[in-house]
Amino acid sequence: MAERANGPAGPLDGLPAQVVQFIRPGQVRLGALPPLALYIHLPWCLKKCPYCDFNSHELKPGSAADSAAQQDRYVDAVIADLEASLPLVWGRRVISVFIGGGTPSLFSPEAIDRLLAAVRARLPLEAGCEVTLEANPGTFERERFKAFRAAGVNRLSVGVQSFDDAALQRIGRVHDGAQARAALAEAAEAFDTFNLDLMYALPGQDLAALARDLDTALAFKPPHLSIYHLTVEPNTVFANRPPVLPDDDLASDMLDLITERTAGVGLQRYEVSAFAQAGHRCVHNLNYWQFGDYLGLGAGAHGKLSFPERIVRQVRWREPAAYMAKALAGQAVSNEHEVGPADLPFEFMLNALRLREGFSLARFTERTGQPARRIEAAVAQALAQGLLEQQGEVLRPSDRGFDFLSDLQQLFLADAR
Ligand SMILES: C[S@@+](CC[C@H](N)C(=O)[O-])C[C@H]1O[C@@H](n2cnc3c(N)ncnc32)[C@H](O)[C@@H]1O
Ligand code: SF4
Repeated sequence: MAERANGPAGPLDGLPAQVVQFIRPGQVRLGALPPLALYIHLPWCLKKCPYCDFNSHELKPGSAADSAAQQDRYVDAVIADLEASLPLVWGRRVISVFIGGGTPSLFSPEAIDRLLAAVRARLPLEAGCEVTLEANPGTFERERFKAFRAAGVNRLSVGVQSFDDAALQRIGRVHDGAQARAALAEAAEAFDTFNLDLMYALPGQDLAALARDLDTALAFKPPHLSIYHLTVEPNTVFANRPPVLPDDDLASDMLDLITERTAGVGLQRYEVSAFAQAGHRCVHNLNYWQFGDYLGLGAGAHGKLSFPERIVRQVRWREPAAYMAKALAGQAVSNEHEVGPADLPFEFMLNALRLREGFSLARFTERTGQPARRIEAAVAQALAQGLLEQQGEVLRPSDRGFDFLSDLQQLFLADAR
C-alpha cells in the first residue's frame, strides 16, 4: 500500500506494506516508543470453569489439541505469527514474556522449550528478562517444573483460587486443596519467584473461610499474590445459573481483611488486585498498567503497538483451529485498528489509575502523545471529589479513588468527548 505510484525512490520504498501503513504520517506524535513486552496465549484447559470468559477451550481427550503433534502445530503457528509480526517491532528489545492461557502447563516442556528458543532466536530479550508461565495445580509434577525452568521460564504463576475443597468444587475447578499446596511447594522450590492467584467472594464463602485461604496462601511466602473478586461475566455458565454470592458489604469486609493480612507480611498492594514483596512486582503486568506496548501472539491474543505517529491495537483469530490455519498462512491478525487521539486519555487511565503509585503527567504525554491540558478538566474534577491526589506532577488515586475506581476512570471518558 505504498502511497507513491511513480517517481524517485522515497524513504518508504522497499518496506513491507504492513509496515508502511503504520509509519506514514498520523494523528499522534510520540517522542519515544514505550517498552515492549511479549504475550503468548495457549488456549486449552482440562475443563472450562463456569465463571471463566477467557479464550480457553476444553481439551477433549483424543481431540485435536490433545497430542504432541497438535502442540507442535500450535507452536509452529505461533512462530509463524511471530515471524509475520517482526517488521512491526524491528530493533526493539523485549522486557518480559508472559505465556498465559488457558492452561499453558498442559503443554509439554519440550514444546515450551521450542517456543522460547524460537522467540530468543528472533527477538532480543533484555538481560534478566522476566519469563512467566501460567500453571494450574494438578497439571504438572516436579520433573515437569524443572524442565520448564530449564526451557527458560523464570517465574511461575500458579492458579490456586482457593484451598478449600468444597469452594473449589463450587467454582468447578478440577484440582483440590492438596494439589494446590503441592503445586506451590514445588513452585517455591524450583523458581526464584512465583505468583499465587486467589479469588475471593466465592459462592458460600464467609470471612472465616477467606481467612483460612489467606493463612494458607501466606504460609507459602509468595513473592507475588494476585487476589481477584470473583465476577460473573456475561456468556458464562455462572451468568446463566448464578450462584449465591457474598453481598457487597461482606465483599468489602473481605477486601479489608485481604489488605490487612497482606500488609502484615510485607506484601505491598501496588495495583488493585496485585500484591508484591519488594523487588517482585510483575514486570509484564506493570508494563500494561503503565501503558507500555505488547505484541500478543496466539489464539485471540490482544496486542498494542506504538509507532512514531500512531498507536495500533491488534486481535488474533479466536478459535484455536482457525487461528492455526490463518497464522500458518501468515494471516494471524483478525482485527486491527488505530486508537484515535480522543480515546487515548481514557485508555491510558483505565490502566494507570489501577496503580497505587499513579502516573506522572510526563508519562501521560510520553505514552499517549497528548498534551497534559487534554486531561486538565478531568484531573481538577477528580481532585475536587477527593478521588485523586497530586504531588508535584505525579497524580495517584486516593484511598477513596481506589475504592471507586470506575467512577474515577469515567471522568476521563467524559473529558475525551
Ligand atoms: C485466565 S486465568 C488463567 C490461569 C489458569 N488457567 C487458572 O485458571 O488458574 C487467570 C486468572 O484470572 C482469574 N479469573 C479468571 N476468571 C475470573 C473471574 N470471572 N473473576 C475473577 N477472577 C477471574 C483467576 O484468578 C485466574 O487465576
Ligand atoms: S483453568 Fe483458568 S483459563 Fe481455564 S477455564 Fe478455568 S479459569 Fe479459565
